[in-house]
Amino acid sequence: EIPRVTGVQTCALPICKMLSAVIAPLSWNAAALPASASARAGSRAAVDMREMLIAGNWKMNTLLPEAVSLAKEVAEAAKNSPCDVAVCAPLPYLTAVKDALKGSKVGLGAQDCYADADAGAFTGATSTAMLESVGCDYVLSGHSERRAIFGDSDEMVNAKTLKILKQGIKCILCIGELKEERESGETFNVLNTQLTKGLKGVDDKMMKEIVIAYEPVWAIGTGLTATPEVAQETHAYVRSWFTENYSDAIADNVIIQYGGSVNAENVDELMACPDIDGALVGGASLKGESFSAICNFKKK
Ligand code: 13P
Repeated sequence: EIPRVTGVQTCALPICKMLSAVIAPLSWNAAALPASASARAGSRAAVDMREMLIAGNWKMNTLLPEAVSLAKEVAEAAKNSPCDVAVCAPLPYLTAVKDALKGSKVGLGAQDCYADADAGAFTGATSTAMLESVGCDYVLSGHSERRAIFGDSDEMVNAKTLKILKQGIKCILCIGELKEERESGETFNVLNTQLTKGLKGVDDKMMKEIVIAYEPVWAIGTGLTATPEVAQETHAYVRSWFTENYSDAIADNVIIQYGGSVNAENVDELMACPDIDGALVGGASLKGESFSAICNFKKK
């Protein structure tokens, strides 16, 4: 079987367009969007204050030589990038990738960790202490593939999030709804639950080390990117959630990345949305050329 490299955007366009047309109108329950969200969405001042982060999630792809050369390409591409850049490499390559990134501004991320101990008899597990010791700047928590394939519950995601922060590493907390949930108007409820449970025990100070990645599950590896309108409206909801549950200052400052079939062709219009502060990129982060183009998206 050919290994599945997600997000290689070869989807027949007419079908994608048809599907987006089907998904987009069903996309959200506008009534559920608090008024504050739309007001904030138009606020360029807040946008200019925020950092942006483009991160590649290599998932279970690459072999060592490829990982090292890809990291070198990213290091080069990041030189001119207008934003922060990171790569979430597979565990066995973290040290080699760290070396390849030396002297560059590219941060190193891991894709998962074990939450319940720093060391001990946990065969196959990787602690946050280990990740820190190899120089990780970020760890993902709650990626939809961890939730769906490995059974990470919201409680486990919360435990990992807290452990990552306690270790002094930044946590990229991933949230996102399934296609059925979007179609039935449940998107905001799902995101509310994932945020409420995932961030339990995370106080205002700890929020500085959290990045949110909104990744609609139906857009991951499918070539079906959310339209900028769908993505923006959902990001505005997520930002309003932080206003309601934390404060205006935290809502203004939290980085909310979009993820799901981001590529060199669609990145500019997605990044032009006022509440989108970067991207978490799967398939298109596996090729130096496309990830370089994404890191150097054109500001609109
Ligand atoms: P794709 O970019 O391949 O859709 O993957 C997105 C993703 O899951 C990043 O974490």
